[in-house]
Amino acid sequence: MGHAESEVLDVERLREDFPILQREFGGEQVVYLDNAATTQTPEPVVETIADYYRTTNANVHRGLHQLSQEASVAYEDAHDRVAEFIGASGEREEIVFTKNTTESENLVAYAWGLNELGPEDEVVLTEMEHHASLVTWQQIAKKTGATCRYIRVDEDGTLDMDHAREIITDDTAMVSVVHVSNTLGTVNPVSELADIAHDHDSYIFVDGAQSVPNRPVDVEAIDADFLAFSGHKMAGPTGIGVLYGKKHILEEMEPYLYGGEMIKKVTFEDASWNDLPWKFEAGTPVIAQGIALAEACDYLDNIGMERIQRHEEQLAQYTLEQLREEGDVETYGPSVGTERGGLVSFNLDSVHAHDLSSILNDSAVAIRAGDHCTQPLHDKMGVPASARASFYIYNTREEVDKLVSAIDDARQLFA
Ligand code: ALA
Repeated sequence: MGHAESEVLDVERLREDFPILQREFGGEQVVYLDNAATTQTPEPVVETIADYYRTTNANVHRGLHQLSQEASVAYEDAHDRVAEFIGASGEREEIVFTKNTTESENLVAYAWGLNELGPEDEVVLTEMEHHASLVTWQQIAKKTGATCRYIRVDEDGTLDMDHAREIITDDTAMVSVVHVSNTLGTVNPVSELADIAHDHDSYIFVDGAQSVPNRPVDVEAIDADFLAFSGHKMAGPTGIGVLYGKKHILEEMEPYLYGGEMIKKVTFEDASWNDLPWKFEAGTPVIAQGIALAEACDYLDNIGMERIQRHEEQLAQYTLEQLREEGDVETYGPSVGTERGGLVSFNLDSVHAHDLSSILNDSAVAIRAGDHCTQPLHDKMGVPASARASFYIYNTREEVDKLVSAIDDARQLFA
């Protein structure tokens, strides 16, 4: 099967935008299946970064000179572009540029959680949370005396929604849920969870690290109070993440970091805060990365987020079907035919995931192995680690076949 077999994307053409995919290891062309960790960066985004440094580089909001003004406009506009990408009608005021999803989680946990939570409050998470959310809220709960509760994950890898309705109560102050699990691929019913949270006057924080890059996400349709995601998982650069927050909530929140840029007026005694979103962007912000992220939004929208979702869904289903044929491979998360994000975690019987990953690397197949920053979930699954293949716009069925064939090689080696 050739590269062009995708029913929804012109993969052959898209691959031309990613020269890194031509790299070879040991004479084999790389099969990059570690996209949930980070995606590759297309030429238009690389060009945007290079162009920015070649033509426009200056600090923002600090100079009256032409370069600073151009950089400031491009940087501010980038916030509006990202707002549009996720359907945030409040535009730039609702979009804070951070370092990554983890920093976005920490921003809300520190700026809101530390001030608002107390011993009578509960934070509701899920058993499939990434450490970015789980560890952050756990530690803020320890500092404030709040309690963390976890929505159960059923055998089929989906959330037990009866349990969700049971543990989200009037004591709940924050519901923090992953939209698409980076380990199970489960697509959680975040809109329904938002309704339940709001019925109890709780906020909901949606971890969109594995959804915003891969499917259409409309933050207002979900009715999320907060949404976080990372640039480097959506064809953008590293070093930039996004925190969306409803304007009225961000306005009420204290800053997270103090310093330049985030202030309005400073005296020896006190300071007042800048307008949104700059109040939350202390110091020199992520200028080049922000402008490049806006370009990544254009790149993805030109392809079409619905089509990206369908392409990944097809690859994930195909992978599940292929792995199901192998009697000694256990896959995790929703089974064949059930909605899931574009990733599949699995274990080959009696071969540690790390060993499997090393052997696949010998065939230039790049996957992730480990706990995927979900240790409690792996404890529940009864395994210390799993292997994970995760897809993006440039992956093909042929690459999945290479993965399966490399797994066959590993089996021979350990037989
Ligand atoms: N959270 C990223 C992953 O799942 C790094 O691989």
